[in-house]
Amino acid sequence: MAASGSGHENWSSRSAFILAAVGSAVGLGNMWRFPAEAGENGGGAFVLFYIFCVLLIGLPVLLSEVLIGRHGQANAPESVRRVARDSNAPEGWSILASMGVFAAFLILSFYCVVGGWVVYYIGVFLSDLFQSGVAGGAFEGRDTAEIKALMPGLFGDGTLMIGLNLGFLAITMFFVSRGVSSGIEWVAVYLMPLFFVLFLGITIYGAFSGNFGEAVAYLFTFDFSKLTGDVMLAAVGQAFFSLSLGVAGMMTYGAYANRNTNLGETSGIIASADTAVALLAGLCIFPIVFAAGLATNSGPGLMFESLPLAFQAMPFGSLIGLAFFTMVFFAALTSSVSLLEAPTAWMFEKFKMKRAVATLIVGAGAAVLGILSSLSFNDLADFYPLSFIPLFAETNFFDTLDGLTAKLFMPIGAILTCIFVGWVADARLIDDENGLDGVLHQTWRALVRFVCPIVLTVILLFGLFG
Ligand code: PFF
Repeated sequence: MAASGSGHENWSSRSAFILAAVGSAVGLGNMWRFPAEAGENGGGAFVLFYIFCVLLIGLPVLLSEVLIGRHGQANAPESVRRVARDSNAPEGWSILASMGVFAAFLILSFYCVVGGWVVYYIGVFLSDLFQSGVAGGAFEGRDTAEIKALMPGLFGDGTLMIGLNLGFLAITMFFVSRGVSSGIEWVAVYLMPLFFVLFLGITIYGAFSGNFGEAVAYLFTFDFSKLTGDVMLAAVGQAFFSLSLGVAGMMTYGAYANRNTNLGETSGIIASADTAVALLAGLCIFPIVFAAGLATNSGPGLMFESLPLAFQAMPFGSLIGLAFFTMVFFAALTSSVSLLEAPTAWMFEKFKMKRAVATLIVGAGAAVLGILSSLSFNDLADFYPLSFIPLFAETNFFDTLDGLTAKLFMPIGAILTCIFVGWVADARLIDDENGLDGVLHQTWRALVRFVCPIVLTVILLFGLFG
């Protein structure tokens, strides 16, 4: 592990930083949450507005976050404090990152629940490989209804859900306790590229066998009348969730980037790779959804219900299914690791404790919330913790945490980040860090100062009260 002058760890190379940041961005947000949100928000209008959000809001905010982290070379709140100090601004601005660290912790707790579902499907395909053999499709001799019943079956079993959730959390804790370069980089450097290739292959196969035309029409036909306040807030929340923004995730990783990394260029690479995987996920999953007659708005289970049906029809289905869910597992792990890293780095730097101890404390908290989220699908299905707020009126614990973080914490965190970087921080310090010149620099600056905070505030108010 390389150490910078401040004693803080650094990624071992520029490409390792990019891959780790892409690893944080690309995860369940792309494969699981993007299709589910697109399906629940009517398809095309959501998708196109999502792309607009990534380009006009996500990308400038992403650069702002990694820039703060790299300048600060510390955990997220401390990095903001250092930028503030070097700009002669009030250090209280660090609250924006403290909120983010808390939100990352909340996301971690339910993210590991979904990570547990992935582990479950790895088990399903592994056992099927022994039963169905390598050559044919998956689930030989089992009818479609049985495969469709897998997900509801899992949801109904609270104990199994909790076990899987805690298992996934424990694996995340193992990697984080080992530290940034030895634990996290390895997964990002070797497994992310492999994942991309396999995913592309499955999507191309799907293009020839599922209802591809219908899926394309569904995802890319822009119907302006469907673009309500809710849909816009959902799209902006998804853009932040997918790019790991507004919750200190990218600030934390930015702190591990070294001086000669061009942050402007790197942010472009991260956002393009992340958006490519999300669109690929949509193009992979919706042809199956239409071919199998599944409901597009079936929510969190969409990816897990649809893909096994495709693997059933595919040659080498069990093997490809197993490989696919294993890759999703690693993509999820590189993201959950960054979610745990944000609060852990804050805790061990602030309280000067061992990394492993901080990991344990944060992990234990996430386990408690995770159990409540796991039970949201069964024993606690009727427990609506924030039912007094209209936005969460009939929302279970799992969906409440998800909505609260993506629709409130992330946009608010991003608005504050833009105001801080655009108006409060010393312009010379910012210019020095961002790696942009000429028109690109001016455009970014205008987006961060004016467009992002204004558009975000309008979407937030419109989504909440409109
Ligand atoms: N971007 C991750 C995904 O799309 O799965 C989720 C995530 C990771 C959100 C890290 C926030 C974060 F700080």
